[in-house]
Parts: sequence; structure tokens; C-alpha cells
Amino acid sequence: MSKIALFGANGTIGSRILDEALRRGHHVTAVVRDLAKLTRADPNLTVVTGNVLDPESVAEVAEGQDAVISAVGGGDGPGHIATIRPAAESLVAGVRRLGADMPRLVVVGGAGSLRTPDGKQVWDADGLPAFLLQIMHAHGDALDFYRTVSDVRWTCLCPAATIEPGERTGTYRTAVEDLVVAGDGSSRISAEDYAVALLDEIDQPGHIGERFTVGY
Ligand SMILES: NC(=O)c1ccc[n+]([C@@H]2O[C@H](COP(=O)([O-])OP(=O)(O)OC[C@H]3O[C@@H](n4cnc5c(N)ncnc54)[C@H](OP(=O)(O)O)[C@@H]3O)[C@@H](O)[C@H]2O)c1
Repeated sequence: MSKIALFGANGTIGSRILDEALRRGHHVTAVVRDLAKLTRADPNLTVVTGNVLDPESVAEVAEGQDAVISAVGGGDGPGHIATIRPAAESLVAGVRRLGADMPRLVVVGGAGSLRTPDGKQVWDADGLPAFLLQIMHAHGDALDFYRTVSDVRWTCLCPAATIEPGERTGTYRTAVEDLVVAGDGSSRISAEDYAVALLDEIDQPGHIGERFTVGY
């Protein structure tokens, strides 16, 4: 069993990651900004406060862990965009402070930079709302940053084009640079199955130092 620190444990995706990690018997330190928002009791769950944008805070919760997962961002406000790249830099700086004992870093990415069947990227599609485009490019910037990092064992798991709460089927397909598209042309994954794929990567590392993506 692994020891995992999870930023964003209250979020739509983070809460599914928390469920899946606990289901597998991992010990999770859930890092939240407001303790009152996560009152769940589980013998394998510790809840602490922390700030993903503060490397000192990241280092503090990362110490002694096997993996740090980040599922931060979210919402419709400017804070979403403003969090993504700075969080990447802070997460890397924070785990780096632990030197040889640093845990691996697994982050929730964005689908925007993935290649589409027509050879373009998701963010090239016509008619995308400006706010969504900004989020996609913020994730692209964060990924560009991770790709400059060679001394931290990072992995970025990009969702399919659509990720929503749904069913845990335990079945999914992965790719590295190409958006996973189903036979009907849709690109989707439930948040539950996204969490299965992310915890599978934690349990059996296959994408250290790269991004990959998951869909049906
Ligand atoms: N198709 C796609 O590519 C796709 C689709 C959806 C989401 N995403 C990405 O997935 C990520 C998570 O999305 P979501 O829908 O799960 O978001 P969400 O439900 O809004 O949850 C975001 C979480 O981030 C936490 N957070 C924000 N700033 C933080 C900080 N400074 N320190 C610590 N925690 C912080 C929030 O904590 P509080 O509870 O304290 O507010 C919350 O738990 C985002 O980066 C989003 O862009 C990608």
C-alpha cells in the first residue's frame, strides 16, 4: 500500500481519486484549504490544511509520502486559470526540497493540448468559449513546464475532452499524445474511471516523465 498526499481532495475529480485510493487501501493525506469541507472518517484518511501554491506547504505534506497527487483548479472564476501553472511550479519546487526522498508527482491535466483525429489539437476547435480556451492553455503552459523538469518523477494524466461524475466501470483506454475518441466520435471519461486510471498509474508506474490521457 502506498502513502499518498492529495491536493484538491474536495473537488469533483479529487474526491473520486480519494474514493479510489481509499478503496485500494492506500493511506491518503487529503490536503484541503478548509477542514470543515472534508469531514469524512476513514482509518486510512488524514485530513490536513495546505496550499498548493506554497512550496513550503507542498514540502511539508509531501514528506514521507510515496506520491503527491494534485487535482487542483476548477470553478468558473479567474482563480481556476491563475492556479494551474503556478501550482505546477510550486508542486515541483516543494517535492524537490525533499531531495533523494522526494515522492513522485501525479497531476490532473487538461485535454486541450491533445491531438485530434484531424491532426490539430483540441484547443484549435472552432467556437470554444474564451474562458475554456484560457483554461486549456493554462494546462498547456503547466505541461510545457513539467516537460522541462527531469529531476522529479512527474506524470500528468489528461482527461478525455469531457469528464463528468458517472459510473465506475473499471474499463478505459489510454494514449499518450492523441485524444482518446470512441467509435461514435465522442471523447469522454467518468470522473470515477479517470480515478481508476490514475490509481492504476500510481500502483504500476508506466508514464513517469510524460503525460498520458484516458477515455473510453
Ligand atoms: N477535460 C478536461 O481537460 C478537464 C475537465 C475538467 C477538469 N479538468 C481539470 O481538472 C482539475 C480539477 O477540476 P475539478 O472539476 O475537479 O475542480 P473542482 O471541483 O473545482 O475542485 C478543485 C479543487 O482544487 C482545490 N484548490 C484550488 N486552489 C487550491 C489551492 N491554492 N490549494 C489547495 N487546493 C486548491 C479546491 O479546494 P477547495 O475545496 O478548498 O476550494 C478544490 O478541491 C482542474 O485543473 C481542471 O482544469 C480538466
